[in-house]
Amino acid sequence: MAHSESIPDPASPILLFDSGVGGLSVLAELRKLLPQAPVIYAADNAGLPYGGKSEAEIAARVCGLLGRMAERYRPRLICIACNTASTIALGMVRDVLQIPIVGTVPAIKPAAALTRSGVIGLLGTEATIRQGYVDRLEAEFASDKLLLRTAAPELVIAAEAKLRGQVVDAEVYRKAAEGLRSQPGGEKIDTVVLACTHFPLVAEELAEAFGPGVRFVDGAAGIARRIAHLTEGQNMARAAKDVALFTRSDADIKALIPALEGYGLGRVEIL
Ligand code: DGL
Repeated sequence: MAHSESIPDPASPILLFDSGVGGLSVLAELRKLLPQAPVIYAADNAGLPYGGKSEAEIAARVCGLLGRMAERYRPRLICIACNTASTIALGMVRDVLQIPIVGTVPAIKPAAALTRSGVIGLLGTEATIRQGYVDRLEAEFASDKLLLRTAAPELVIAAEAKLRGQVVDAEVYRKAAEGLRSQPGGEKIDTVVLACTHFPLVAEELAEAFGPGVRFVDGAAGIARRIAHLTEGQNMARAAKDVALFTRSDADIKALIPALEGYGLGRVEIL
């Protein structure tokens, strides 16, 4: 990874990027380790959801947006807090930006270490579950396990609605659980990888839908540790309130403000 060795300005932010609110699950973990870190939380609401888009479209969007954001906000580090964007575009973003870029990897390795039944479920977006990146993780860490995958794009919409204070029909969560349970061997699933950063935001509802005896694993805490490691020893001081940055001005951002404030994001900006 090529990046400048110069010492960042104390107010230089850590920029977390996702298509929507999913990356807030990563921000929550980051706050525990680096409460003093200035943060920009960027949501590409104009492009949400990513899961149904092509690889080319996602790569072009993510590279273009992160280039513009890096130029405007001069972050010390960017975290692509989105499995879909990360499994597709991480390499390209690293090639074009001269700062550290932290990606999001489906937590197959920890899930393989945790499962007792040997059957792991993986919930992700349509784009994530078809990535060779996921095949490689499976081959490397879970070749002696059964890994069942299903796309659950409705959970992205559910998490977005939940954070806007809207009520979501429990049927949505049951359907996602059924997508894994109904596959051969699915009744033995004891560990589920939440391979989309939106999904930890609805983990309680998913736990209810799967029933007892199922553990959920996601990458958020590991990503936060990686960011803390890469910024170790750097001076950090917030010069102003942390920003929630959106790619499109939208009436429904207003409904998100209480949730954003709960994550310490006190200002809204539009790119
Ligand atoms: N939060 C994103 C992820 O981790 C994707 C949601 C979407 O835009 O489809 O995959």
